[in-house]
Amino acid sequence: MELKALTMSLLLLLLSFLLYVYFFSRGKKYSKKLPPGSLGLPLIGQSFTFQKAMKDDKIEEWIQKGIVKHGPIWKACLFGSPVVVLHGTSANKFVYTCAGGKLANTHPPSVSRILGRKSIVKMTGDNHKRLKEALFSFLKPDVLKQFVAKIDEETQNHLETHWHGRNEVQVQPLLKTLTFNVICSLVFGIERGPKRDQFLPPFKDMIRSFIAIPVNLPFTQFNRGLKARKQVVALLVDLLHEKREALKEQKQQPSAHKDQDLITSLLKTQYDDSSEMMSDEMIIDNVIVLMLGGYDTISVLLTLIVKCLANNKPVYLNIAQEQEEIMKNKSPGEALTWEDLTKMKYTSRVVSETLRLHPPVNVHFQRATQDIEYEGYIIPKGWQVMVSASMTHMDDNIFPNPTMFDPTRFEKHAPSPPPFSLLSFGAGPRMCPGMEFAKMESLVMIHRLVTLFTWELLNKDESFKRSPFPEFDQGLQAQISPIIR
Ligand code: HEM
Repeated sequence: MELKALTMSLLLLLLSFLLYVYFFSRGKKYSKKLPPGSLGLPLIGQSFTFQKAMKDDKIEEWIQKGIVKHGPIWKACLFGSPVVVLHGTSANKFVYTCAGGKLANTHPPSVSRILGRKSIVKMTGDNHKRLKEALFSFLKPDVLKQFVAKIDEETQNHLETHWHGRNEVQVQPLLKTLTFNVICSLVFGIERGPKRDQFLPPFKDMIRSFIAIPVNLPFTQFNRGLKARKQVVALLVDLLHEKREALKEQKQQPSAHKDQDLITSLLKTQYDDSSEMMSDEMIIDNVIVLMLGGYDTISVLLTLIVKCLANNKPVYLNIAQEQEEIMKNKSPGEALTWEDLTKMKYTSRVVSETLRLHPPVNVHFQRATQDIEYEGYIIPKGWQVMVSASMTHMDDNIFPNPTMFDPTRFEKHAPSPPPFSLLSFGAGPRMCPGMEFAKMESLVMIHRLVTLFTWELLNKDESFKRSPFPEFDQGLQAQISPIIR
């Protein structure tokens, strides 16, 4: 077994090398029309400087250096693959909406293996469209509306358990716990308790192996990630069985109908003659995608909001006032409703501005499936293209004074940013289906946090490293005090 893994790893290395040689020779064929720039040293290229810039959250500086040297279209080589780096809203439009399947989604091999063969990120064309519709039929605002009270219950319970009675907290790890619980509740429909707790350790191992080198040897992180995936799949198979039984009972007793979770909603498609049937494998792989897609992204967003509010007194005071108004009209502990969320106009702008300043996903790659001509250059088949949300969000032609935290940019009467200039949730057919869910959870969390606690950061300049999502050096340490009413 181990010999097999070793052979596979050697083959993988050989394959990367051959691919590199192949791309190089193809590159030479087009050398006159290729974008400017250098592919650097074989296989390595600019990988180290890119990796460092990503880690230090300085990807804009890395891209800007290339632009200064070569202009808005230039080439580099990252992790053995040539990449054309593009900047500007029309480049974003080209990459996110490139017609005719000329560009395809691409992910590191570790991500593809952890997510599974039938995950949405692997689907293309009509299969992708159908699956996206199925996921969105659960994640659209009209359906999510009914879950506001559930998210609120999880949030209140979380604050009661992990924040009350403490003077100091590490915000980021706690908000990961909250996000995990909310996802468990909505996606799996599993209530708090041992069953939910079983998912957490393998789930964390899967996340860690996302950026692991895809070498499947007994001591590697990738190997732990694959084992963790097996464990999660086994738990999901049992869960699917239980939910299928519950659905059958519901059919016999329609009055027993309860709030549905995403798994139940996908299982229903198997009984519905009018829709394309979803296999169990497809449901499981996509439940894993949703678990992983929502976890780090939302918890990072919530943590960054806590930091932005701590360091921007006027913004905090405006939010506090808006949230107090909402609380005044409710009895103590009464659950928030969708209508309450629609009143949180200023708070929504703060969420949007936090996402603009610190998009949790800051670069986007696609791979050319054929030779493509763009702005007079050839992008050869197999090469990647890269655009960056952070780079676009820092463009002072679009967002004046771009490093300033200024929620008024999103006021109703402010000029709307041009298309393809706000990319925190991506754009085009691959746009994030979890956007409304993320915004909803943020509003609920801010309401509860602001009306129950005040906080100050122990180090107001605590920084983060991206790996690939922002991770605060000390988990964002804060001193908290309950608000006594
Ligand atoms: C602040 C929170 C979030 C951010 C910033 C975010 C960001 C993104 C981005 C940028 C993409 C596009 C990736 C690409 O173009 O390849 C994406 C895709 C995706 N996201 Fe999110 N996301 C968030 C929350 C969520 C949540 C809560 C879920 C599900 C519950 C989710 C599920 C997905 C899925 C399934 C895709 C793949 C869509 C496809 O391939 O068509 N995301 N997300």
